[in-house]
Amino acid sequence: MRIVDLIERKRDGGTHSAAELQALIGGYVRGEVPDYQMAAWLMAVCWRGMTPEEATSLTQLMAASGEQLDLSSIGRPVADKHSTGGVGDKTSLVVMPLVAACGVPVGKMSGRGLGFTGGTIDKLECFPNIRLDLSAAEFVRQLGEVGIVITGQSADLAPADGKLYALRDVTGTVPSLPLIASSVMSKKLAAGAQVIVLDVKTGSGAFMREPEAARALAEAMVEIGTQAGRRTAAVVSDMSQPLGRAVGNALEVAEALATLDGHGPPEFTAFALELASLIVELASDGHGGRAAVEAALHSGAAKQAFRRMVEAQGGDSSAFDDPRRLPTAQIQQPLVAEQAGYLVRLDALEVARASIALGAGRERKGDPIDLAVGVVVQAKVGDRLAAGQPIAIVHANDSATLAAAERILRGAIGVASEPVPLPPLIRERIGVPAARPG
Ligand code: URA
Repeated sequence: MRIVDLIERKRDGGTHSAAELQALIGGYVRGEVPDYQMAAWLMAVCWRGMTPEEATSLTQLMAASGEQLDLSSIGRPVADKHSTGGVGDKTSLVVMPLVAACGVPVGKMSGRGLGFTGGTIDKLECFPNIRLDLSAAEFVRQLGEVGIVITGQSADLAPADGKLYALRDVTGTVPSLPLIASSVMSKKLAAGAQVIVLDVKTGSGAFMREPEAARALAEAMVEIGTQAGRRTAAVVSDMSQPLGRAVGNALEVAEALATLDGHGPPEFTAFALELASLIVELASDGHGGRAAVEAALHSGAAKQAFRRMVEAQGGDSSAFDDPRRLPTAQIQQPLVAEQAGYLVRLDALEVARASIALGAGRERKGDPIDLAVGVVVQAKVGDRLAAGQPIAIVHANDSATLAAAERILRGAIGVASEPVPLPPLIRERIGVPAARPG
């Protein structure tokens, strides 16, 4: 089989068998297929797409290119949750404890924040000494013993995706729906969970800005997961404004802990409860997830599960008793409404840019970040504002970054005399069992 024939076939809109994809991906991982041929094929995929069968084969080949976790020793279906990344997205820190407290083991390998999206791993670093580099054996052991684990993405899982992604990054071939779906799902399949719930964000603060593209990505990933024999479902959720109120690492951890105490922003709490119920229902083949998840929230069992995870990974859990132990910025400056009216725009991307200007995020891989800084919005789209009312509190560690963040935030905000209709936080549900709402 000549690789150039495969490139030409894809260029002309043709399809590949699983064996052909294996020759291509296997050859690339072994170093037999050069970068220039793989880059040409990737660009052809960007233009011509892939069939669901091709995308599933590609995913399975990438998943099989490295270590694949065997979670059979846990004895029950294990759940995993993935978000395509957003602004103020601390959902995993609430959903995973809720799920674990319902007796469903839940484990996740997660990334660091890059660009405008925050990373769960960075947020967890607010607990001093926590280990986020667990080995596969440690990951599986903690799943069995504690029932909840979050660690950094292991390079041993789906190494073919790591190599392909690095090439896509420098050849303009990241934005291909089947390539993104295969990339995400290869890591999920290799991590071994039986239940996979995906949160695909859409809006200005999301990777997929348009709802149609987000829906198509969600459908493609659900199809791949289902074809691979995993119970997979997805929601498409709004990211036109930040999720919840807090944006910034320690601020988001504080909001997650408040939510687990029952004092979270109502719409974020409802969102977390719905995702957790979906996971519990998929894992238990049935219904009644909602009642169990609500009980786990109100009894404090979910917060205990989160604390057990932090402690099992060597982290200092004193912030669970007193959130003031979390990293705190020196300056807390309100940004007030200049006129009365309705908040009609709170652009998620601009809020993220303000937060990055404060030092909460990184432009390049490996950049240091300031865990304490960020923005806590005091109003959401649709709220009525009086002149002088705080729209956000900016948490900064110096006056220069504070001024930069305030400038960016002013551009994030729109105030008008009439309210605008609000999009629902969950725009779509894909692969969700029929008995569920929607
Ligand atoms: N995230 C991934 O893991 N892969 C992609 O291709 C895009 C985003």
